[in-house]
Amino acid sequence: MSYMPLHSWWGTTTSDAWCDEVFSHAPGAGRAGATDSTLTNLQGGLSGVPYPADELATTDPLDGRPLLARYDLERAAKTLSDRQRDAGVPFRGVWRWDELLPVRDWSNVVTLGEGSTPLLEASRLGRAYGISQLLVKAESLNPTGSFKARGMTVAVSRAIELGAASFVMPSAGNAGGALAAYAGVAGVQATVVMPSDAPIVNQAEVVVCGADLILVDGLISDCGRLTARIAERTGAFNLSTLKEPYRVEGKKTMGIELAEDLGWSLPDVIVYPMGGGTGLIGMWKAFAELEEMGLIGGARPRMVGVQVEGCAPLVRAFLAGRQFAEPWAEATTEAAGLRVPSTVGDFLVLEAISESGGTAIAVPEAELAPTQSFAARHGAGFLSLESAAVFAALSELRSHHAVEPDDTVVVFDTGAGFKSTLPEVPARRSVGASDADWESLLSGYAPASQRGSTSASADSGP
Ligand SMILES: Cc1ncc(COP(=O)(O)O)c(C=O)c1O
Repeated sequence: MSYMPLHSWWGTTTSDAWCDEVFSHAPGAGRAGATDSTLTNLQGGLSGVPYPADELATTDPLDGRPLLARYDLERAAKTLSDRQRDAGVPFRGVWRWDELLPVRDWSNVVTLGEGSTPLLEASRLGRAYGISQLLVKAESLNPTGSFKARGMTVAVSRAIELGAASFVMPSAGNAGGALAAYAGVAGVQATVVMPSDAPIVNQAEVVVCGADLILVDGLISDCGRLTARIAERTGAFNLSTLKEPYRVEGKKTMGIELAEDLGWSLPDVIVYPMGGGTGLIGMWKAFAELEEMGLIGGARPRMVGVQVEGCAPLVRAFLAGRQFAEPWAEATTEAAGLRVPSTVGDFLVLEAISESGGTAIAVPEAELAPTQSFAARHGAGFLSLESAAVFAALSELRSHHAVEPDDTVVVFDTGAGFKSTLPEVPARRSVGASDADWESLLSGYAPASQRGSTSASADSGP
């Protein structure tokens, strides 16, 4: 985006034409012409059948399963290996990996500056969980406050490149907010279909960004069915996760960044909150592509997928050794992004977890809010309930030796706390604004030197 200097805002009107001029986005982070995309074709994720890449695609016509993008990795490796040597890094963010992304021309790139999130050392939490190197990939620092921005910048850009003029999508919350924001950048119409109990902040985000919001008294799977009907009736392009090939490509960049963050190696363990599991599928795909290009070796992290006990179809299927997951009846959890009773990419998630030697685990609902607070008091910031779920899994993973003390463990903070359903705030002391009011308040405080350590400063376990 390009911004006008603040002083010149005064005295102007906010007509549509003015807004278009002020906020016309600089496509592709200011770049022009052809990208270095090496996209060659699409391929059925289950059937293996190849399909052409340069037309709007949804799922595999043979089986309704996800289509995956394939690249000329030999060609991509030529420029990416320069990057590995830290030479010629063009710019930060998702789009610096344009060789491994599907968009052909920079003029179609719709961006808000997503990606290049920090990988933070969580030393106090590491001590609390008995893990010597606990790292947090801070995806909540993305525009729109969640990792959904990565998928949306790529999927919206590519669909626009292939002729889509409007969008419709079901969402648990964050993806809908992201679609609305990116549709705003591109200046196209979007409709978001959410469960009526989706976090109010996500609902507000969609409306404020100018998208059409439809609330369904049901689950995300019901929203998916209505979305398909709207797409059929209106011709709007359906951006449901894994029902088009490119949201997963954007999420793949989490895996590329992780390798880059760790000096082109991978951690021992990745712990990730799973709704449909697209992020996990994307990272697993990234690792395969990086290996094929010779940028990393064959070692893989153990992938740990986390769900909540009230909705754990992928965990149940993994523990039963199944290839596909049965839909979960009566899905419930306050972590809206994890309230996903079924997913078309189930076999890809289950394959990645088992090939990696990892595991899947469901955490109790009752642990989400306390863990959200525990993690915040120990330095993780105000995390979403989805992110809290991964920290809630750590003790159990440690006690079952799925995570060992000397493992390098990367936990994904997929979304910001203020984008989740907010916790109850306990009654707070309030005070008037006069000196007299403050005197009585201050009389209750002792100098810091006389106070003992607080529970927030102790590194005890949760
Ligand atoms: C914050 C957050 N974390 C995790 C997820 C799960 O994402 P996925 O469905 O790609 O597994 C979501 C989905 O809405 C989310 O909003």
